[in-house]
Amino acid sequence: MRYLALSCLVMAAAAQSADAASPAEVRGKAGMVASRSALASEVGADVLRRGGNAIDAAVATGFALAVTYPSAGNIGGGGFMVIRLADGSVVTNDHRERAPAAADHDMFLDDDGDVIQGLSTHSHLAVGVPGTVAGLLDVHERYGQLERSAVIDPAIALARDGFVVDDDLAGQFRRHMPRLERYPASRAVFARPDGAPLAAGDRLVQSDLADTLGRIREHGHDGFYRGATAELLVAEMERGEGLITLEDLASYESVWRDPIRGTYRGHEIVSMPPPSSGGVLLVQMLNMLEPHDIGGFGYGSAAATHRIIEAERRAYADRAHHLGDTDFYPTPIATLVDKAYAAQRFADFDPARASRSEDIGHGTIPNESPDTTHVSVMDGDGNTVAYTTTLNLSYGSKIVVPGAGFLLNNEMDDFSIKPNTPNAYGLLGDEANAIAPGKRMLSSMTPTIVLRDGEPLLVTGSPGGSTIITTVLQVVMNVIDHGMDLSDAVGKPRFHHQWQPDRVMVEPFGFSPDTVAALEAMGHEGIDTIRWGRGIGDANSVMRRDGELLGVSDPRGAGRAVGL
Ligand code: DON
Repeated sequence: MRYLALSCLVMAAAAQSADAASPAEVRGKAGMVASRSALASEVGADVLRRGGNAIDAAVATGFALAVTYPSAGNIGGGGFMVIRLADGSVVTNDHRERAPAAADHDMFLDDDGDVIQGLSTHSHLAVGVPGTVAGLLDVHERYGQLERSAVIDPAIALARDGFVVDDDLAGQFRRHMPRLERYPASRAVFARPDGAPLAAGDRLVQSDLADTLGRIREHGHDGFYRGATAELLVAEMERGEGLITLEDLASYESVWRDPIRGTYRGHEIVSMPPPSSGGVLLVQMLNMLEPHDIGGFGYGSAAATHRIIEAERRAYADRAHHLGDTDFYPTPIATLVDKAYAAQRFADFDPARASRSEDIGHGTIPNESPDTTHVSVMDGDGNTVAYTTTLNLSYGSKIVVPGAGFLLNNEMDDFSIKPNTPNAYGLLGDEANAIAPGKRMLSSMTPTIVLRDGEPLLVTGSPGGSTIITTVLQVVMNVIDHGMDLSDAVGKPRFHHQWQPDRVMVEPFGFSPDTVAALEAMGHEGIDTIRWGRGIGDANSVMRRDGELLGVSDPRGAGRAVGL
């Protein structure tokens, strides 16, 4: 049942994209920005035109998304950035939300130990300590070329002057108003004075948000984590019996982490380490699949699909048991991304039969081994940024901080709030991802860069909760195994399996009838075509080919790639 939440989420994403036309492939030489918002991509491209590098552009796009794509773009949430610098080095910035210091292992359970429905998603307790502002500022300070004002001013202008709401945003406001309007400050931003949701053609002006962004421009971290913004956020927490304190905010720091690295058919994969599960699972699945002739079987073939499903089943089982914030729990990363471990994990694979998830436990680790949105950017020098950011569900907790104008996340639901109890994406978890004060909740966000001969080939990532990792897997395999151009690699139908529930979700036209028949004959049960549109993921991606940059906004979303 809970898995329906995922279906609803994907449905919402699909519904908003139904009438959205996206350009197929945008070309450029000197830079490319692909994001879910045309206005935000323009901001990023403009920063590149003015001499900024890919890091400046990604940060400026990130701040702009908080204004133009408020369901997921944010300053009240968190994200991950994977950065490949022109000198070849790769770093990642983790600015995932943290549990407040007063958070407790069982904070979402009643006295009988049962989950209190809705508390981890729609309440002030659902809010993790936001990390986005720390992350964007730290990344910019370390690697940007332009002044801080140059990467925040465009967002301030969009918030202060407003912009015209399009059909896409208007549809979102309409769908989410029943929850948004519970909070007067949220209603004041996203509805007309009479309470009706802003409609296409209306102007969305966000003066309080402009002021908050102005404080960040003036005071950096302190403009958000101390002073007026922090006080407004904590006042809202006190009003709604939330946990975040001034101390939680003042002590928040983004973390620089080494990327997850893997190889796949001569390509190098660099992606996000825990507290994301994305990079680990992506590399683990690619390792399981590498010995198999996926390209030879062909895109959409039963043989390739069967192998991918079985790899997904095993990797997601490991996620549920092993993965969590490595600062709190000893996740066996080195083993999980090891090719020998993948071979051992896939040893019971039967080319003729589906396994059953209930028979696939998590792998045994030998004792000795230890409404999200994605932006892809490349500049002409080879600086490359994969940036995924989120409030968790669309519009997060739906709570706008009164006087500060930004939405708060509901990321606490990404913790395992009770062992083996599905979260909003149907994902299971255990002690590795249990709540603890200051801990970061496990994520599926998978900002990823693929390198060939040491040079960036592809930058990709996606929203979609648990489906993020399988979306990125398929985009990468479409390029490497099937040799697709970028628009096909991103546009082709996707499918998804996540161990539990034991079913395959597929986009319309994803499987031919004889592929479905072949999979069912192997024992794959519950093959479920998404009937509400075209939406698993929204993988705005950039690729470099023959010295040219190609950008694609996923046709499932209403974003845009802008090149120069
Ligand atoms: O971090 C995660 O894995 C989730 N909070 C991501 C949420 C998401 O992708 C929502 N978008 N559809």
